[in-house]
Amino acid sequence: MKRKYIYYAFICIYFVACRREAPVEVEAPEAAGSGPVAAVSAPVSGAAVDIEDASSCAGCHSAVVEEWQQSMHSRAHQGRDPVFAAMHRVRVEREGEQLTGACAGCHSPLAPGAPMSAAGAAGVSCAACHNLAAVHPGKAGAAALERAPGGLLRSGRDLAPGASPAHPTGPGLPALADGSTLCLACHAVAKAPSGVTTCATGEEFAAGGGAPSCVSCHMPEVEGSASPSGARPRHRSHAFLGPHGAWAPGGDGGFLGSGLEVEARWTEGGAEVSLHNTTPHAFPTGFPGRMAVLMAQGEDAAGQVIWRNIQQDPMQEHPEAVLNQVFVDAEGQPTLAAWSVERRRDARLQAGERRVITLAPPAEVQVLRVALMYRLMAPPLAKRLGLEEAPEAKPVKALERVLRR
Ligand code: HEC
Ligand code: HEC
Ligand code: HEC
Ligand code: HEC
Ligand code: HEC
Repeated sequence: MKRKYIYYAFICIYFVACRREAPVEVEAPEAAGSGPVAAVSAPVSGAAVDIEDASSCAGCHSAVVEEWQQSMHSRAHQGRDPVFAAMHRVRVEREGEQLTGACAGCHSPLAPGAPMSAAGAAGVSCAACHNLAAVHPGKAGAAALERAPGGLLRSGRDLAPGASPAHPTGPGLPALADGSTLCLACHAVAKAPSGVTTCATGEEFAAGGGAPSCVSCHMPEVEGSASPSGARPRHRSHAFLGPHGAWAPGGDGGFLGSGLEVEARWTEGGAEVSLHNTTPHAFPTGFPGRMAVLMAQGEDAAGQVIWRNIQQDPMQEHPEAVLNQVFVDAEGQPTLAAWSVERRRDARLQAGERRVITLAPPAEVQVLRVALMYRLMAPPLAKRLGLEEAPEAKPVKALERVLRR
């Protein structure tokens, strides 16, 4: 009963989808780390690895491979991400099959011209991030990622030639070492053909000061060595923590909630909740169909629920409690971000923003429960994509606070 109200259909907001034309306008920090690649070690004997096949790394970098297999980077392709698959289908129906190539640069960066090949289906795989000569700012996806010759695999630090028996190693790549530049090759900004900005994690990050680095939160250091030498006991997690983790088996909204500082308190007229976005990008960021809603319910002394800020439609009843974007077409009707001519609303919390949301429960309310509910897809979008019944359409609780008189 307590959560039932969350599932009511919201009419109203009808947005979404990254229209990422290739080429896309990208903003990345200058000096995108094209370190020297001259000092490439000769390929060594031993099992020759196919650098485009992550499973061939597992024998020596098992922890990293297992983490990556759980991440959205390994699921960026239609075969493994139902949301991407549905969006791709809906947009191809209207825009034609040639659209596929406009997605593959970021979703299948190892084979942008052949997304249905094995390398394309691998998604954002090891070689896209480690087999690099340079990362070029101002370009997006595969076009920004200049592959290194000879199967060279680099990290952020200098490795002696011959450090690995299975693949050439070499000098560190600055774009990997700084923890953000590589990420911004695909996560910077995307625009609809109309010029409307649809996804802008990189712009938000620049506006928010450009720190801390992406990997500090999305690839935290975890226990266990990443390589057979065991030289370092910890490594950077390749699970690429993000919203989807909450929908994984046993997952929860903990990572989502970690981005916010929250304070709830009684006031003379009712109560207020202060939300402080501590991340260097918007909350929610990225894919424009995400939404978060602050839901509140009040109980009387007998424990009966006697008040809610939202019964059915948050955009009608309490729009200040809705962190989302709304995109409209030339007729002013809500539409997919990719097809929009205007972003009519951006009520997300910007990087570093602190916002107070007021609640007006009646005086009889003795216990007030507030929960921030996060959705991968706003309900109208889930409907448009034919995914209303999919697990990904269910909201997840990012955090909760309880006030008692
Ligand atoms: C036969 C074992 C072996 C296989 C298979 C292997 N590697 Fe390595 N790799 C190593 C060793 C040894 C090092 C040297 C670093 C060390 O020992 O810490 C290394 C280093 C690396 C580094 C630099 C890591 C660092 O510590 O800075 C990357 C990146 C890397 N490998 C990626 C891959 C990828 C991607 C694959 C699969 C395509 C792969 N490796 C397959 C043994 C292997
Ligand atoms: C410039 C790189 C880039 C291009 C090109 C691109 N995307 Fe994306 N896409 C991303 C990134 C990065 C994300 C992860 C969320 C975010 O930051 O926006 C994403 C997320 C998505 C999601 C959300 C998936 C989920 O599981 O929730 C969908 C759907 C999607 N993209 C569809 C498309 C389609 C369809 C195309 C081609 C028309 C496309 N994208 C082209 C980079 C790109
Ligand atoms: C989206 C980009 C990306 C992908 C995909 C990726 N990595 Fe990494 N990897 C990184 C970054 C960033 C680091 C940290 C670099 C640093 O600090 O030196 C890293 C570090 C590593 C290290 C050294 C770990 C440590 O902290 O000691 C190894 C080994 C490695 N990666 C192997 C792989 C393998 C194998 C795959 C595929 C299963 C893979 N990576 C996929 C970005 C990526
Ligand atoms: C202080 C920690 C922190 C840092 C630093 C950080 N993020 Fe995030 N990121 C989060 C949290 C928490 C979320 C989940 C809530 C949200 O969407 O803001 C998130 C969400 C995301 C998402 C999911 C978007 C989607 O469509 O669902 C992407 C992609 C992302 N971040 C990329 C980045 C990139 C790229 C950088 C560096 C430019 C970065 N993040 C820096 C904490 C961080
Ligand atoms: C080659 C392009 C590319 C690069 C480089 C890249 N990403 Fe991504 N990333 C994507 C795409 C595409 C998605 C969306 C996959 C999907 O949902 O279908 C994504 C999704 C994510 C997500 C969302 C995970 C979730 O649970 O929803 C996070 C977080 C993220 N990336 C972080 C990073 C970080 C950190 C880096 C740099 C170390 C990075 N990415 C580099 C393309 C890239």
